[in-house]
Amino acid sequence: MVSVPAPFPAARFRRLRATDARRRLVRENTLTADDFIWPVFIRDGENDETPIPSMPGVSRLTIDRVAKAAEEAATLGIPAICLFPYTAQKDRTEDCAMAWDPDNLTNRAIRAIKAAVPEIAVMTDVALDPYNINGHDGFVVDGEILNDETVEALVKMTLAQAEAGADIIGPSDMMDGRIGAMRAALEAAGHQNVTILSYAAKYASGFYGPFRDAVGASGALTGDKKTYQMDPGNTDEALRLVARDLAEGADMVMVKPGMPYLDICRRVKTELQVPTFAYQVSGEYAMLAGAAQNGWLDGPKVMLESLLCFKRAGCDGILTYFAPEAARALKAGS
Ligand code: PBG
Repeated sequence: MVSVPAPFPAARFRRLRATDARRRLVRENTLTADDFIWPVFIRDGENDETPIPSMPGVSRLTIDRVAKAAEEAATLGIPAICLFPYTAQKDRTEDCAMAWDPDNLTNRAIRAIKAAVPEIAVMTDVALDPYNINGHDGFVVDGEILNDETVEALVKMTLAQAEAGADIIGPSDMMDGRIGAMRAALEAAGHQNVTILSYAAKYASGFYGPFRDAVGASGALTGDKKTYQMDPGNTDEALRLVARDLAEGADMVMVKPGMPYLDICRRVKTELQVPTFAYQVSGEYAMLAGAAQNGWLDGPKVMLESLLCFKRAGCDGILTYFAPEAARALKAGS
């Protein structure tokens, strides 16, 4: 219940806004580097990087550079880094076998980061799309995305990542039953402490466009992902998915995209009171970074404002491409 203020002039709301000291004193939500998970794109090669045109300021990094970036992130106080591979064309096949290869790009990057900066948490992506010839997150047979067969493959992928040293497994595939299967396999293999951050409420969104450019999946994708990702018109379903994934063994849950789905973040936090994350996705980043690049928005200002909104909506943390820039800005005291 909102308390009823005294009538004017007993109540003047501007009193508490009059100075920076008073504003800071009564601020309800704040942002720190502890709130960030930094998604990065990795590619093969050495000491090199490729800028992604639809994501100004973001590049695909070779593994040696990702390890350096992880060191920098740790220095900035960012607790976790999340890896997305840009795979070679030859590694994209119908059977997606590269997805669970112990020496695939992601698994090599996990080992390199863990060797360089053991204290940073390494999160992975579990879905078949980087290794699938048709760009889908699951196996495709006669135009249909198979559920149960895909879950079996995702379990193999999960175990390979855990074996390589991943701290947080991030299933982004939206197949049914995957969390339970992954949890059981992790327990059986002795990976009791590996955390699952489930992409529980992931919507079939247009805001993933620049990401698909970044991982080279834009041209490959046939059709859309509407038979497995959520309908943007739904809210109750998001709550059921979150509850279901928690019951199957997820430790944390995610809402994705972020800014257009803050109502979902708030409902998840209010109704379930669990560690809740939002993914400020590539399209959200592109809108803000692109407008800033054109001089249409004040980049640093909208970056921090857009991140703070997740805290207000109840999120415990945010996956954001702005992570290092935002951490630097917060350190500088803006
Ligand atoms: C695919 C995956 C996607 C993103 C993360 N994992 C795209 C998709 O579902 O097509 C999107 C992230 C972003 O847009 O920043 N498994």
